[in-house]
Amino acid sequence: MLWLVWVYLLNLQSGALGFGINPFSGDSFNHQTITERALLNVTAQVCRALALAEGKDFTFPAQPFTAKSIANACEAPKSYKFFLPNILFIQSMNAAVDLRRLFEARYHCDDELLREGQRLITEGLSAVKAANRKQSFLSARLTLGGILHTLQDFYSHSNWAELRNKFPNINMIRRNANIGNIADRTTATCRSCNGDDCRNNILENVISRNILTSGYFVVRPMSSNKPKGKCSHGGFPDATSSVEPKGGINKDSYSSSHGYLHREAAELAIAATSQILEDIRGASGDREFLQLMGLSKGSSKALCFVVDTTGSMGDDIAAVQTVTSNIIDSKVGTEDEPSLYILVPFNDPDFGPLIKTTDAEVFKGHINSLTAYEGGDLPEMSLSGLQLALTGSPPNSEIFLFTDAPAKDKYLKNTVIALIEQTKTVVNFMITGILSSRRRRQANENQQQQQTQRMARSDSQLYRDLSQASGGQAIEVSKNQLLQATSIITESTSSSLVTLLQVNRNMGRPENYTFSVDDTLTNLIIYITGSSVDFTLVNPSGELHNGASTGPSIITAELVGNLLTLRLRAQVGLWELRIISTNPYTMKVVGQSPIDFILRFMVQSQGPVDGYDLLENRPTAGSNTSLEVTLLEADSTTVTEVTLVESSGSGQVNGLVEAQGGGQYLVHFDKIPSVEFVVLVKGQSTNSTTSRASSVTFQRQSTTSLR
Ligand SMILES: *[C@@H]1O[C@H](CO)[C@@H](O)[C@H](O)[C@H]1NC(C)=O
Ligand SMILES: *[C@@H]1O[C@H](CO)[C@@H](O)[C@H](O)[C@H]1NC(C)=O
Ligand SMILES: *[C@@H]1O[C@H](CO)[C@@H](O)[C@H](O)[C@H]1NC(C)=O
Ligand SMILES: *[C@@H]1O[C@H](CO)[C@@H](O)[C@H](O)[C@H]1NC(C)=O
Repeated sequence: MLWLVWVYLLNLQSGALGFGINPFSGDSFNHQTITERALLNVTAQVCRALALAEGKDFTFPAQPFTAKSIANACEAPKSYKFFLPNILFIQSMNAAVDLRRLFEARYHCDDELLREGQRLITEGLSAVKAANRKQSFLSARLTLGGILHTLQDFYSHSNWAELRNKFPNINMIRRNANIGNIADRTTATCRSCNGDDCRNNILENVISRNILTSGYFVVRPMSSNKPKGKCSHGGFPDATSSVEPKGGINKDSYSSSHGYLHREAAELAIAATSQILEDIRGASGDREFLQLMGLSKGSSKALCFVVDTTGSMGDDIAAVQTVTSNIIDSKVGTEDEPSLYILVPFNDPDFGPLIKTTDAEVFKGHINSLTAYEGGDLPEMSLSGLQLALTGSPPNSEIFLFTDAPAKDKYLKNTVIALIEQTKTVVNFMITGILSSRRRRQANENQQQQQTQRMARSDSQLYRDLSQASGGQAIEVSKNQLLQATSIITESTSSSLVTLLQVNRNMGRPENYTFSVDDTLTNLIIYITGSSVDFTLVNPSGELHNGASTGPSIITAELVGNLLTLRLRAQVGLWELRIISTNPYTMKVVGQSPIDFILRFMVQSQGPVDGYDLLENRPTAGSNTSLEVTLLEADSTTVTEVTLVESSGSGQVNGLVEAQGGGQYLVHFDKIPSVEFVVLVKGQSTNSTTSRASSVTFQRQSTTSLR
C-alpha cells in the first residue's frame, strides 16, 4: 500500500477532505513531499553544474527548497510559472497510482512482487528517456510520476530498511539486475505482532540471511488470501493484517506498524528518487532535464507565424515580412526569446508545409521567400494552416495568423479550440483588408487601387472566438498599421502579464464591468477591440474618463485599426468600465504582478482511497468536479472567492472554497456551465514589506476559456 492512504485517512479522521501537499502533512512524509524534495534537489544540482560550467557561482537557497527558490537560484524566475505546475503534475501522476491501481500489488511492491515492481520501474524509465529524446516532455512527466510511486513504495513496503540498508537499492532502477534474495512463496517471513508492537515481527532468520520480502495487502472488506507465514502490510484498511501472522511491516507514516522506521524509509525513498532522476539527467543531458522540469532561462515557447499567401495578400505580404522580422528582433536576446520558430503558409486549396528552425536568421530567410499566388475564390484554408501550426508547436507557444479572408474550413473550429486548450497556445489574428477600402478612400484616393472588401464583419467573429478562447486578440487593421498593431499585441501576450478581466461580446449592448486593482500591479492596460465602442472609465476616486483621450488615470490612449489601448496609472481599489456598443467587442484588463494562479480540475476518487485525482479531460457539464487553485505567491495571498463566469456574460457559478494549506485551495461547484466559461479568482494580498501591514483585494482571471 501507500503513504498516501494514510494521509487521506488521517485527513478524514480530522474531518478535512483533501489532497494536501503541505511540506509535512500530519508530520509524516507522503509521496508528494518525497517527490518534491527529490525533484527540487536534483534540479538544483543540474543548475549548479550548468552555472559552474559557465564559470559562474551558484548559491543553494535555504532549506527547505521551494519551486520558487529553485527557479530563482537557477536564474529563471519567470519559469516558476511552468516549473510549479510540472511538479504538481508529476505528483498527481504519482498519486494516481493509488487512486487508479490500488489493487494491483506490483505497482506498490506489495505481496513480494518486487521483481515485478522493478520491471514496471525500468520499463517506465526507458519510456521516459525515449519521450525526452522526442521532446515529448508531457508524456515523460506522466510516466515519471507513475514509476516514482512504485519506486518509493519499495522503501515503505519491503523490509529494505529493516535489513539496515543505509543506501537505496540501485538495482531497482536497472533492468533485469539482481535486486536481492527474495523470499520464495513457502518461506515464512513474519510472526504475529505483540499486540500493537510490531518492532520484532520479522523472523530473525529472514534478517540474518538478508532475505527480501514485502507485506501482503488486501483492502477490507475483501478476505485475505495471504500465504502461510507471510508478513502483512498492516494497518486499518488491510484485511490480511488480522490473519496470522497478525500485524504488519509498512512504514507509510509514523503511526504505521513499522512507523519507527518511517523517517529512514522516507529518506531512502528521497535518495532513490534522486537517483532515478540523476539517471534520467545522465541520459538526456542537463539542458534537456531542465526542459523536462519546465525551467529555462529563455522562453520555452515557439513563435509561430501562419501566413495567407493567396493572390490578394500581394501587397500585404511585404508588410507581414517587415512585421515578423520586427517581432523576431524585439525578442532575440531577451527573456522572451523563443526556443523555436515555426512558419506555416496557407493558400487555397493548399496549406503548409510547416517549417521549423531554431535560428532567427534562417527563419527570416524563409519568411522573406514567401510570395503571394493564386487562391481563386474568397474563403481560404486558414484553419487548416492554424491546425497544422498548433499540432507542430510545443505547449504555451504564441501564434500570429495573418490573413485578409474568412475561413473556408470553418468545420475545423472545434478541433482547433480543443488543440488551443490542450496546448495553452495564444493565437492572435491580424486581419487586413476589412478597413482597407474605407481607409484608403479617406486617406488618399490615388495612392492605391480600390480593393473590394473581402471579409464581412460577421466573418471575423470566428477569428474573434478562436482568439478569445486562447487568450489572444483578433485585430482588424490596414497594412500600414500592421507593424504598430503587432507590436502592441506582442506586448499584450507577454508571459509576465496577468489577466484581471477579459470579455468577448458577440452582441453589443450597454454593460458595466468592475475590477479590483491591487498594490502589486504595474503596467496596467485595458485593450478594447471593436468598432465604435464608447466607454466611460471610473477610477477608485470616482473620476470619470470618456472617449479616447487622456485624463487623471489614462496615461495614453492609442487607437490602431479597431484596437484601442489604454495605459493606466495603477491606483489600488475598485475600478469601473462602462461600455456602450452596438457592435461585437472584446475587452481585457492586464498588468504585471507576481500574484497569479494555477488551475486544475480534480475529481473525487470513487475507490477506497479518499483523494482527488487529476482530471485529464475537460470537466463535464453538471458533474461533480472540483477545481484546485494554487497561488504562486502563497506566503502573502489567500483566496476568498472563485467563480465560473460564462463567457457570454449571462451566468456564473460560485464555488465553495476550502483551503488546503501551502497556497492550495479546493473549490467545489455544484454544477459546471454547459457553455464556454472563464475562472475568476478573488482574494486578499497582505503586504508585510510596507510599514503598516495591510490587506488589499486582488482579482485574477484565467486567460483561456474552458468548456
Ligand atoms: C540530492 O541529489 C544528489 C544527486 O543529484 C544526491 O547525491 C543526494 O543524495 C540528494 N540528496 C538527498 C537528500 O536525497
Ligand atoms: C452603468 O452604470 C451607469 C452609472 O451608474 C448607469 O446609469 C447604467 O444604467 C449602468 N448600465 C448598466 C447596463 O447596468
Ligand atoms: C508590497 O508593496 C510594495 C510597495 O508598494 C510593492 O513594490 C511590492 O510588490 C508588494 N509586494 C507584495 C508581495 O504585495
Ligand atoms: C457530489 O459530491 C458530494 C460530496 O462528495 C456528494 O455528496 C454528492 O452526492 C455528489 N453528487 C454527485 C452527482 O455525484
